[in-house]
Amino acid sequence: MKVLIIGNGGREHAIGRKLAASPKKPTLIFAPGNPGMEELGSCFSVAPDDFRGLLTLVQVQKVDLTIVGPEQPLVGGLVDLFEANGLRIFGPDRAAAALEGSKAFAKDFMGRHGIPTAGYQTFRALEPARAHLREMGAPIVIKASGLAGGKGAVVCMTMQEAESALQSMLGPKAVFGLAGSEVVMEEFMEGEEASVFALTDGESFVLLPTAQDHKRIGDGDTGPNTGGMGAYAPAPLMTQELLEEASRTIITPTLDGMRREGTPYKGILYVGLMITSKGPKVVEYNCRFGDPETQVVLPILQEDLLELILASLEGRLDRLKVSPPKEWAAVVVMASKGYPGPYETGIPISGLEQVQSLSNSHAIHAGTKRMQGKLATAGGRVLGMVGQGPTLQDAIEAAYEGAAKVGFPGAQFRNDIGKKGLARLVP
Ligand code: AMP
Ligand code: GLY
Repeated sequence: MKVLIIGNGGREHAIGRKLAASPKKPTLIFAPGNPGMEELGSCFSVAPDDFRGLLTLVQVQKVDLTIVGPEQPLVGGLVDLFEANGLRIFGPDRAAAALEGSKAFAKDFMGRHGIPTAGYQTFRALEPARAHLREMGAPIVIKASGLAGGKGAVVCMTMQEAESALQSMLGPKAVFGLAGSEVVMEEFMEGEEASVFALTDGESFVLLPTAQDHKRIGDGDTGPNTGGMGAYAPAPLMTQELLEEASRTIITPTLDGMRREGTPYKGILYVGLMITSKGPKVVEYNCRFGDPETQVVLPILQEDLLELILASLEGRLDRLKVSPPKEWAAVVVMASKGYPGPYETGIPISGLEQVQSLSNSHAIHAGTKRMQGKLATAGGRVLGMVGQGPTLQDAIEAAYEGAAKVGFPGAQFRNDIGKKGLARLVP
């Protein structure tokens, strides 16, 4: 079986790595891929937004199954195009991907179906938004409605922060472009976050191991939000009881609601949860695997991911089970200097060959490229150093052991990945 994975980041490398270990022994190809994925199969330089190019690639390469990594092609309707051409593709269609593509749609949907989430209002103009702010006060959360690469949400602890966030999204010099033309202002939810992944055929679903992301750039959850600076799995915060509650109050009503509205959701539904004193509430939906969470979820998933995906496409997911993971995993993201602000690329990376000698660590390529045959940085998040082990502590140590071997000038990473999880495990 030939499988195409679309994307060029850590998530797609992690999916490729998992599929490469499938007993079904698929032939893997990537578009456009990265140097990490080159080790797993051929990479074709077709961009994820080049729908016609992808269609041609799949037809010429006789691809049996396409897996979409990033959200943009899903939100843009790649699944619709492939399905209209009789091709097998894993992911939600355009209408279903709106759960991630439009925060305003997602919030209204949750409202219609009684799914717990923060109270909110949407605005398109600065003055009404400011009036709402004066009424609500801080803390408050202000989000650009469209896709903003995980950086569109600003948690404002003071009125001043809120005022400048509104200015930056709705003011005359708005920075998010079109994404900022609609703004969601949300009640601040107090609690700890967890990421839950449901793999679904639109009716049945299985839950993959849970994870916890580290969204802020700095240790102790300080500084601006990023795409994710590290993760570990499973998340001890998500007890069996809480998982059952979230399935009952959030995941099942979400899938039922989408089906009832005539837009069944198929693929990976990633629910970002806040565990509040009143139970789990939705922070956000994503229509794809999480990054970096996938880098820790898939290595400890005991089942064959390819079989789960095929089962969901063939409508036999209800007969499969995912068992609780037996191991732990942690990933430390190594990011470029300046990230999540502007950063340089093309900086040489060293030490990766030394990671290969470690038995419990491996490197996931997130933003790398080859320059004159040598590996160099190509993005904000450059590498994910993944560690696995029989305990969370072992996994964290293995991840940092890997991180200690690689480097590039200006590399920044967090020193406290997994600490919150460890604190929960102390008897
Ligand atoms: P989002 O882009 O919606 O995923 O938000 C990014 C991050 O902002 C989340 O992971 C949370 O840490 C934080 N956040 C978003 N919405 C809220 C909220 N209503 N209350 C508290 N924190 C939030
Ligand atoms: N780790 C956050 C995301 O994938 O959106």
